[in-house]
Amino acid sequence: MAFNNEQFKDILAEFTIGGERLREIAATFRQDLQLGLRDVTLSSMRMLKSYVGLPSGKERGEYLALDFGGTNIRVFRIRLDGDGKYEIVKRVGRPLVVPGEYDYICKDATAEQMFDFIAELVDEAIDGDHDTKYYLGHTFSFPSTQDNLYNARLIIWTKEFATQGVEGEVANDLLVAALKRRDAANVEPVAVLNDTVAVLLSAAYKTPDTFIGSIYATGHNTCYLEPTIHDPKGVGKGGMILNLECGNFSKLVPNRFDAEYDERSEKPGEQRFEKMVSGRYMGELLGMAIAELLGEKGKQYGLTSVDMSMMILDESENLTKASDIIMAKVGRELDFEDVQKVRELASAIVIRSARLVAASFVALVWQRAGSGKIVRQHVAVDGSVYEKMPLAKENITRAISELLGEDASKVDTILDNGGSGLGAAIAAAMAVEGNA
Ligand code: GLC
Repeated sequence: MAFNNEQFKDILAEFTIGGERLREIAATFRQDLQLGLRDVTLSSMRMLKSYVGLPSGKERGEYLALDFGGTNIRVFRIRLDGDGKYEIVKRVGRPLVVPGEYDYICKDATAEQMFDFIAELVDEAIDGDHDTKYYLGHTFSFPSTQDNLYNARLIIWTKEFATQGVEGEVANDLLVAALKRRDAANVEPVAVLNDTVAVLLSAAYKTPDTFIGSIYATGHNTCYLEPTIHDPKGVGKGGMILNLECGNFSKLVPNRFDAEYDERSEKPGEQRFEKMVSGRYMGELLGMAIAELLGEKGKQYGLTSVDMSMMILDESENLTKASDIIMAKVGRELDFEDVQKVRELASAIVIRSARLVAASFVALVWQRAGSGKIVRQHVAVDGSVYEKMPLAKENITRAISELLGEDASKVDTILDNGGSGLGAAIAAAMAVEGNA
């Protein structure tokens, strides 16, 4: 059965954002941000205080960094040498899920099991040394409220995590208890931060004029330095970094696929923006579009963003790779024309995602500029979608140009690979050194 062309065009249009709509979206995002600055309950974003501003770049010393935000847990020992220099002394990592073996993120897993697993990894990073004092920075990349640099309390799991007994708890307290159970109380968590904040700290440590940090990966979220907020319990300069939790931005009109996916997701109504743009969801959206075209609406094929990227990258004459992926996941052998259409849809979904992300960056650039001029600056981004997904980066740049016109030459996005680890070490150093 070949795809119906009208239906295909209609679906393609659902995933296309023209110039005017893009501008409206950026303006709406900024409005939502401004509402939140006045009264956070008015914004669809959580706009969480981080209690940290920018680093001086002079931070020094050896710190532990725990990166906990996706299915891979990583722990680093990092030596900061000041002047934007550092060295990773040790790095260990392990997934929280190994299918058929264990799964610490499912509903049946407990907080204790999850944090014991993490503490074991921390122990490995310090080679079982239970004597030396280690200060740890913890990148905990889930929406959490905090009123100092240590005590992030998980509001709600995102990214389809479901482990019991963590929501409502202070992540560092769970970690401290697990470290005690392992006899590793010489490791002291001193700072907790979102991965977006970690990326911004890491980029700003190395590259001045960076005020916006973003993750564009399994999940999506952005933070920025808000110059008007200061808190005596905070450290760092230039104001306070706000973790927007813009994955939850919801003042956008979703298309029918977005709406349907949301309904059957782990947390309906939550993370509407993230479900439109991030790597965790793009493959699912493509699967839903294919199911509609094949007349099997509701069927799920388990397509991932990696599948999408391989299909888009397949420029071979017969689209062999793309056809193979469709065969393996969808279970059908499609005509060449239909494989081409699937590739077009995959591209449209990626391009929409990149344009939406770019609109949010521009909203922040406008916000920081206020009524003044836009200054030269970098937007630091980390994450597999930004780094590896074909079409993502170039479409962010294109959309920024569309929105900023001449000023676009002042704003670029830079990859800050591994910022989650380095940023955590920097935050730990800032916590220990204070504002000295
Ligand atoms: C999700 C989390 C957020 C995190 C983002 C990227 O949106 O809620 O805290 O920054 O994923 O990992």
